[in-house]
Amino acid sequence: MNITQLKIGHIMPKVPIIQGGMGVGISLSGLASAVANAGGIGIISGTGITIDEMRSHIRKAKECIKDSGYIGVNVLFAMNDFAEKMKAAIEERVDFIISGAGISRDMYAWGREAGIPVISIVSSAKLAKLSERLGASAVVVEGHEAGGHLGTERPLFDILPEVVSAVKIPVIAAGGIMTGEDLARALSIGASGVQMGTRFVASEECDAPLSFKEKYIHCGQEDIILVKTTVGLQGRAIKNQFTELISDDKKVKIKKCMDCLKNCSYRFCTLDSLLTSMNGDCENGLVFAGARVHEIKEILPVKTIINNIMREFEACM
Ligand SMILES: Cc1cc2nc3c(=O)[nH]c(=O)nc-3n(C[C@H](O)[C@H](O)[C@H](O)COP(=O)(O)O)c2cc1C
Repeated sequence: MNITQLKIGHIMPKVPIIQGGMGVGISLSGLASAVANAGGIGIISGTGITIDEMRSHIRKAKECIKDSGYIGVNVLFAMNDFAEKMKAAIEERVDFIISGAGISRDMYAWGREAGIPVISIVSSAKLAKLSERLGASAVVVEGHEAGGHLGTERPLFDILPEVVSAVKIPVIAAGGIMTGEDLARALSIGASGVQMGTRFVASEECDAPLSFKEKYIHCGQEDIILVKTTVGLQGRAIKNQFTELISDDKKVKIKKCMDCLKNCSYRFCTLDSLLTSMNGDCENGLVFAGARVHEIKEILPVKTIINNIMREFEACM
């Protein structure tokens, strides 16, 4: 199998690997620029930071990128500041915008007017088709193995062939991608690339604190659970005191509501719980992670992670 060039608009990375946007401070300029410099595509998450912080991370990432690396911004439709964040990212002239947790007709029109590709994260062929019809430049299809909030109970490799045959735009496979073999399997089914989150969290350059990364490398398979967050979706996380606290239906006192979500159950504060772990307290906050997090044994430089995957990929060709 020859590796075909991943191409989304003007974006043509050296390796077909996108680092998934990870909210509330996990993928900022540090991680995104390291991935871009290693030949992949980096994503800054706009979730859980202010618009000014997002602008400053975009500028910082652009300054750090050496050759022709690519940087995008992840914005979540479910958040109240979705439109403002998307417009600010367009003003900062990012290479692309990737939107999760819902889609709107407007977002594709804004991207089209600015000449900036808009990519949608989907979990079904139906949503992939709708995104293509509305103007998406590519879709990321995310299976149940992914970290963070989940849009489906179906495994990636069940949904991927359906999405590939439903659309003509590039399809990026996400959820449980860890190795070069996984990359080869996704490409052989017709994906144009992969998006990875969990593996990049346990990297030297990831913007998360060391305690968060250590939670990853010390995690066993029995420590991974699904929790229902106030967004109304399931999320995959690593067990700790916080997941124990929310394991029944009781309400957890919300210190200060920022009114961040379009629809919130108000049972606890998802944003605050993610900020707590991001600030280093990985027992009393939510630690999102993918289904294969227990396979990660080391915190490595991003370049090593990408080189290992590409070496494994070539070996299994
Ligand atoms: C800690 C963490 C936080 C995440 N936050 C977001 C987010 O804010 N927005 C989003 O669209 N996806 C988010 N994701 C999903 C990733 O972007 C990516 O698609 C997914 O993790 C891929 O699966 P993998 O982790 O098995 O590689 C998150 C994933 C993780 C592990």
